[in-house]
Amino acid sequence: MPEILYDFGSGRSDPETFPKEALKNAVSRVLDREGLELTKYPGNLGHEGLRKAMARRESEREGVPVDPAHLILCNGSMQAVTLTAEALQVNHGDTVIVEEFCYPGTLSAYRGLKYDMVGIKLDEGGMRIDHLEDELKRLQNENRLPRFIYAISTYQNPTGFVMPKARRLEMINLARRFGVPIVEDNCYGDVHYDGPIEPAIYALDGDPNHIYMCSLSKILAPGMRLGYILARPPMLEKILARRFDAGSNTFAAAVVAEFYRDGIASHAAVANPVLKDKRDLTVAMLKEHLDDICVWSNPVGGLFIWVRFPDDVDRGKLWKTTQAAGVNYITGTSFHYKAVNAPYLRLAFGHLTREQIAAGVPILARLLKEARGSNEPRTFENLFI
Ligand SMILES: Cc1ncc(COP(=O)(O)O)c(C=O)c1O
Repeated sequence: MPEILYDFGSGRSDPETFPKEALKNAVSRVLDREGLELTKYPGNLGHEGLRKAMARRESEREGVPVDPAHLILCNGSMQAVTLTAEALQVNHGDTVIVEEFCYPGTLSAYRGLKYDMVGIKLDEGGMRIDHLEDELKRLQNENRLPRFIYAISTYQNPTGFVMPKARRLEMINLARRFGVPIVEDNCYGDVHYDGPIEPAIYALDGDPNHIYMCSLSKILAPGMRLGYILARPPMLEKILARRFDAGSNTFAAAVVAEFYRDGIASHAAVANPVLKDKRDLTVAMLKEHLDDICVWSNPVGGLFIWVRFPDDVDRGKLWKTTQAAGVNYITGTSFHYKAVNAPYLRLAFGHLTREQIAAGVPILARLLKEARGSNEPRTFENLFI
C-alpha cells in the first residue's frame, strides 16, 4: 500500500494544539491528590470531578442547569451510542430513525444490533422535518414506530450542517406527537467557528425520554476515550442497567477534570481558531480547484466538509487513483444508511498541516477530473437534490 500523505479521512483535532505540558502537570497533581482512587473501581457513573466539569460545560453552553448525577461517563461517545441503542431496543429488527447520511460508527453499531434503519433526507438545516413526519406516519401505519430518532443536529457528520432552533422545536413536537424519544449526538459540541450557537434539544425540551451524548474526542483528543451520556431518571437507570464494564477509566477522567478546572473555553479558544483556519484553507483550495464541477459545505463547526461531485465520476477509479497518490478521504457510500453509492466524499481537515491541505486538495481535484467521463461543468447548485 502506498503511504498516505494527505489523510483527509479521519476526524481528529489539531495535534499542535494538544496541551501536552498542561496534561503532564495535571497527571502529577492528580496522582498526588487522588492516586488512591485508582485502587477502586469507578462505578457506573464514573469520576465525579469530570462529571461536575462536564455538567458545567453543558450548563454554560446551554444556559440550563445540568445535574452531574445525570451524567454517565463512557469510553468515548461511541460507547454512548451503543449503550443507548441497547437500552432502547426491545427486539432485533426494531426500527430506528437516522439521517440519510450519518456517522459510519453509529451505522455499524445499529447494524450490529440488528436495528432496521430508516434514513431521513437532509438539507442545509439537517434532517428534513417534512420527510421525518412522512416516515413517522408511514411507520405508525405499519405498526412499527421507531424506538428512537438518532440526530447529530449540530455540526452534522458528514455534512457539517447545524439544525436551526425552529427546526429543533418542530422535531421535538413530532417526537412528542408520535411518542418517540430523541437521541441527540453532540460529538462536536464546542468545536465551533462562527455564527450563532443553536441550543441543544435537551435544553429546549424537558422530556425525560430524550437522551443526549457528547464527547471529549474532538475538543481534546480521541485517545482519551472519554464521552458521556446525559439522561434523566428513569431513562438513566434503564441505560445503566445495560452497562456491564465496571465504569470508565478513572485515571483519564481525573486528568481531564484537572485540566479543565478553569472550564473548557480556554483550551477551545486556542484550538478552534487553528481548526477554523484549516477549514478556510480547505474551502479556498476547493474553490480554486473544483468550483466548476463540485459543491461543498462550509461548516460553522466540527471537522468535516461534505463534497458533491458529478454523477459521471467513476468512483472506483477515483478511489484507486487517490489511494495510489497518497490521498485519503471517506466515500459518500460509507455514510449512507443503506450504503448506497452516492456522488459525495467527506474531507476531514483538523489534523492535517496547512501544507498537506494546500498540496492534497489539488491532487484530489486533478484525479476527480481524470475519473470523469466528460468535461462538462456541474449541473447542480447545491449539495442536495
Ligand atoms: C457523530 C459522532 N458520534 C460519535 C463519534 C464517536 O466519537 P468518540 O467515541 O471518539 O467520542 C464520532 C466520531 O467521529 C462522531 O462523528
